Amino acid sequence: MTTFTPRVFSGMQPTGNLHLGNYLGAMLNWIKLQETQECIYCVVDMHAITLWQEPKELHKAILEVTAAYLACGLDPKRSIIFNQSQVQEHAELAWIFNCVARMGWLNRMTQFKEKAGKDKEQASVGLYVYPNLMAADILAYKATHVPVGEDQKQHLELARDIAGKFNLDFGDAIREAGYNGDFFPLPEPFIIGPATRVMSLRDGAKKMSKSDPSDLSRINLSDDADTIARKIRKAKTDTDGLPSEAAGLKGRPEAENLVGIHAALSGQSVEQVLAQFGGGQFSRLKEALAELSVAKLGPIGRETRRLKADPGHVEGILADGSARARAIAAPILREVRKIVGFVVS
Ligand code: TYM
Repeated sequence: MTTFTPRVFSGMQPTGNLHLGNYLGAMLNWIKLQETQECIYCVVDMHAITLWQEPKELHKAILEVTAAYLACGLDPKRSIIFNQSQVQEHAELAWIFNCVARMGWLNRMTQFKEKAGKDKEQASVGLYVYPNLMAADILAYKATHVPVGEDQKQHLELARDIAGKFNLDFGDAIREAGYNGDFFPLPEPFIIGPATRVMSLRDGAKKMSKSDPSDLSRINLSDDADTIARKIRKAKTDTDGLPSEAAGLKGRPEAENLVGIHAALSGQSVEQVLAQFGGGQFSRLKEALAELSVAKLGPIGRETRRLKADPGHVEGILADGSARARAIAAPILREVRKIVGFVVS
């Protein structure tokens, strides 16, 4: 078995605003990991166009999501921050993975089924092979750890399957190229914290998502203080009070969601939050949560707006990050070309 240098990779789509789910499910871990690990954080614009994007809107969204990354605390000196389309190795490796992954594997992807909806014939081919591009994003850097929310777990299992099949199919060529083991690591999902699946504020059975038609269902990182407080006040709850123990949250998705959000934002466990609010009315938790959310998210929104006013600065960060990303991916892709049997001059 080859041991791989630990390296973190993750990404978010520039489609609309980032929301509390992105922040608690992924971003909080990204920020922590950059303290101790080599981290690469990508704005996945090529994934975004698997659904139609108005070009001017996409352009704006790439800069806005980058601004939000920075406003949340990602440090471009520590981490590599870039947009996917500026590093062509992603597309090249994705093509090779299109030829490694099996139709049967992709047919099992639940996110394709959800996003394609009833009319699969009208979905873009890109949407179908989306998980292969995601595997390429990670493996173009031989990344070993991938911090994401719960909803990306199946895609990461596929990335591991692709890495494993590549290592197996090309085993002889990999050894001939001088590797005494696997070429790609099997990337580990890193799904941790009390809010790995933040649910809609209007329906505890649905994931908080950018595509929900109701803006009340989510808290956007760009929302102002009044909007945040109003959305939390209006969040759906059931009629019972809050339980004192975590077991009492079972079968009560809305209560579980609000408690989980509070725990993640305040850096406490669910048990600690229940020790404080258990036995009381929802209104008390909601009041505290509104205050906490405004305190944590308000500065992020303000900083994002400030950075957005200087697109040249944000573009400069993406250009620098892309050059650094390319410097890692290019030699890996050169090896991949040789291993596959392409003529490399
Ligand atoms: P995306 O843009 O949908 O979401 C970005 C990150 O936010 C997490 N997330 C959530 N976590 C908790 N609760 C929620 N309601 C919630 N909604 C979103 C996602 O799990 C994700 O971590 N395919 C990916 C982007 C991607 C990627 C990659 C990720 C492309 N290539 C390579 C990791 C590695 C996506 O669409 O995420």
